[in-house]
Amino acid sequence: MNATVANRSNPLVLGIETSCDETGIGIVRGSTLLSNTIASSMDEHARYGGVVPEVAARAHLEEMVPALKQAVAEAGIALDDVDAIAVTTGPGLSGALMVGVGAAKALAVALDKPIYAVNHLVGHVGADILDPSGTPFEYPTIALLVSGGHTSLLLVRDIVNDVELLGETIDDAAGEAFDKVARILGLPYPGGPQIDRVAADGDPKAIRFPRGLSRPKDMEKHRYDFSFSGLKTAVARWVEQKQDAGLDVPVADVAAGFREAVADVLITKALAACADYGVPRLLLGGGVVANARVREMATERARAAGVALRIPPLSLCTDNGAMIAELGAQLIMAGHAPSTLDFSADSTLPVTEIQVR
Ligand code: KG4
Ligand code: ZN
Repeated sequence: MNATVANRSNPLVLGIETSCDETGIGIVRGSTLLSNTIASSMDEHARYGGVVPEVAARAHLEEMVPALKQAVAEAGIALDDVDAIAVTTGPGLSGALMVGVGAAKALAVALDKPIYAVNHLVGHVGADILDPSGTPFEYPTIALLVSGGHTSLLLVRDIVNDVELLGETIDDAAGEAFDKVARILGLPYPGGPQIDRVAADGDPKAIRFPRGLSRPKDMEKHRYDFSFSGLKTAVARWVEQKQDAGLDVPVADVAAGFREAVADVLITKALAACADYGVPRLLLGGGVVANARVREMATERARAAGVALRIPPLSLCTDNGAMIAELGAQLIMAGHAPSTLDFSADSTLPVTEIQVR
């Protein structure tokens, strides 16, 4: 396998992402997005109410080659033109990751190209560099990544050298909480968009649900950590009590109150990190960023705090291959050497390991 990148100043990189239920293939040239193909197995998980790892891995196997072909065609390149392959090596679901890692290694060997094994969470930060709005990405930034699989608060001083985990969820991810509460309310999976839709007609102040890890004592010990399992239980109890009393459940108000609690905790903690570290920039990533209230609250409060808010287009916020390709491109442009073929999928890869050598 080739250990050098032919074009270091403006590399053509193909990125492969399979950490959860999206088979993502993206192609970038330098910091320019050329294609971003995403095949999701979400529908296959719907009847289980959450992502089933085995089903996700099998779907990646089926989608990999068609997605590759589509991404290459849309980018208008030949596979052999790429300067390097980048792949998500973790964190994520082991079986799902293994499909992407296997495909990436096979391509690297067959095409004789260097390979970059990269961190999924840091990839979410890379997505912002591709933002077509053109405003340049600046360091340092606080990044809040919220999806069905993660809720992480990062301090990014340099995307290729210095990413620090400030905090993360100690139980459910924010998206997972949306999915579970939707189920309690009898709404289909994935729950986030459903709750968002229903909440639009509700009163967010009608019911005040608890804000996890937000009491003064918690803010000392778990200042940047999140907890959503208590909130989910509080919603379940509240709904049960109404049902036991034979009363109608005001679904819109419950959804609005729950959404408000999640948004409040996410934005409060993210802006606390901005203030504590003197970082006037906040980047949002992950599927939960689609949430209307999260976006609205982030926009209002960031403006009030003098923090520049960055929200990439949704196709780059949810899991995708382009963000992985871009992280690979950033590593190459910064002169980092490729990975060897010895790496393997690491479901618990820490965020500080930006690249696995
Ligand atoms: O990033 P993503 O597409 O995939 C992974 O989890 O890896 O995020 C999906 C998650 C699901 O939990 C879904 O319910 C949530 O994002 N989500 C939302 C919204 N749209 C998607 N949560 C809240 N509000 C939304 N509008
Ligand atoms: Zn993700």
